[in-house]
Amino acid sequence: MNTYYKGIFILTLLFLLAQSEATKANPNFSRKYKIGCATCHTVPPQLTRTGIEFRRLGYRFPNELNEETIEPEKTYQQKEFPQQTTALNTMETAGCMNCHAVGSKGEGLNLEGIGTKMNSEKIKVYVVSANHPGSDATSELTDDDLQLVADFLASLTQNTAEKDKWSYDFADFVSVRGRARYVYNKVENVNATNQFRFNDMTLFYLGPVNNNLTVFFETEYDQGYEPNVLAQGSLIFGNADEYFFLKVGHMRFVRQGVSLLDRPKTISTDLVVTGRSHLYALSTDQVGIETSYGFNQRRTLIRGFITNGLDSLGSGRPVGKQDLNTQKDFGIMIENLFGEKTATSVSAVFYHGATPTSSGNISFERYGLFGTYAINDNANDEDIRINAGALAGYDDVPNAEKDDFNFGFTAGIDKRLGDQFYASVRYDQFRPTDRISSNITKAYTLGIIKQLFTYLRLSAEYQLFQRPGNISESLAVLEFYMFF
Ligand code: HEC
Ligand code: HEC
Repeated sequence: MNTYYKGIFILTLLFLLAQSEATKANPNFSRKYKIGCATCHTVPPQLTRTGIEFRRLGYRFPNELNEETIEPEKTYQQKEFPQQTTALNTMETAGCMNCHAVGSKGEGLNLEGIGTKMNSEKIKVYVVSANHPGSDATSELTDDDLQLVADFLASLTQNTAEKDKWSYDFADFVSVRGRARYVYNKVENVNATNQFRFNDMTLFYLGPVNNNLTVFFETEYDQGYEPNVLAQGSLIFGNADEYFFLKVGHMRFVRQGVSLLDRPKTISTDLVVTGRSHLYALSTDQVGIETSYGFNQRRTLIRGFITNGLDSLGSGRPVGKQDLNTQKDFGIMIENLFGEKTATSVSAVFYHGATPTSSGNISFERYGLFGTYAINDNANDEDIRINAGALAGYDDVPNAEKDDFNFGFTAGIDKRLGDQFYASVRYDQFRPTDRISSNITKAYTLGIIKQLFTYLRLSAEYQLFQRPGNISESLAVLEFYMFF
């Protein structure tokens, strides 16, 4: 009984804390651009539309790829712009300075030197366009205001923040994550357990190294396990509207996509992508290469993967072990984002693989379809997200009948309750084989997630599982997720 009181106490505390406002600032990308997490995350680690596009371009904003230099406008010279004060005040009132800095004003992406990249006409068109993450702020501006601001920005032809090519800021690339959890677990007819768990401490190094090259390294130390390493290097060619990229290293089919193949808001990830059938789960990272083609104004991305596949234990990134079969697995993903500002998207997946076992290779195929419909509010914060997805597979197991069918589906809704504060409900079910009659696992998930401070996210989640054989299991988790 005691645990229930403790749970209620902690939940109450969580809700009280949740009333406070999350402050604005950052881990490494926030440090680099001096913008708040909310530009790229609904609540970390789930990405917004801006965040998804930013990741696809190798952690670059579209304009960073479309580097072009123009002849600076001769009309005005910097420091001579007649209505500089009025222009700056206009920008401040409109809210531009929440995300931008000019001289000593504001904080965020520095607009110094913008006049060497865009003339006044271009700035005018760009800032109101859907390509600009801050276009909402322009709704406050009259045509004359906009003209004034554009003329002023075009006059900023000197970049005082120029850097030499050897110096860079380490803090722009490095992040650390720590997750501590309190876990209560009760399986039917078994005594309940509860424990504080140090889930993981993870070091990240990620970001663009130059115009074409991007790296992502992650080293995760779990409680009581060997360190787990993830390394990706990618090359991007083209511009923001049409690009190719080549990625080598550890491939992720889940967590670096759109819809349910991005990270969830909740602590847990749905059973459809984590459920294992004949050793294979879509959520397992693997070693290989990816080539992708992005087009349709950053909406569509076609991704092709060739990987080593899994080893005989179902691991895709074995530490110090070789892939046991010489066959390569391959996969195709087609991702499409809809509209302009929301995370509304679909992702279709096809995967073909072979996994070695002592009696021969299991060969299998998976077909997945995942969709998200997201509605943003007036301030462009995500208000509601509706998710659904299904994954079906046919597996050929040595010495058994062909085409064993497996199937999972999930559906859920996230609702915004306040500033970086969400509630989430979800239903999942997964059936790893149709050879056994009762082998469906069902899960009902209820979670609340709040980014309390810039560096701390609190969440509480309750999951009820109905396991094969009608065994029910309750899992309650409170998580402190810290990120610097
Ligand atoms: C400019 C965009 C941007 C900003 C600002 C930003 N992030 Fe991120 N963040 C990303 C992207 C993109 C990823 C996904 C990395 C990947 O998987 O490729 C990410 C990933 C993460 C992750 C997951 C890391 C992992 O691999 O599990 C966390 C946690 C996170 N961000 C926290 C934050 C917090 C907290 C803030 C604000 C203080 C913040 N981010 C600001 C773009 C951003
Ligand atoms: C919510 C944050 C936000 C607000 C508010 C905002 N912007 Fe932006 N702005 C951005 C981001 C992020 C970029 C970078 C996009 C890119 O490079 O593709 C950007 C890019 C720009 C650029 C191009 C910079 C470059 O180097 O290419 C200009 C000019 C600009 N903004 C002007 C404005 C003006 C004027 C306002 C006010 C009316 C404004 N912004 C409000 C986030 C914001």
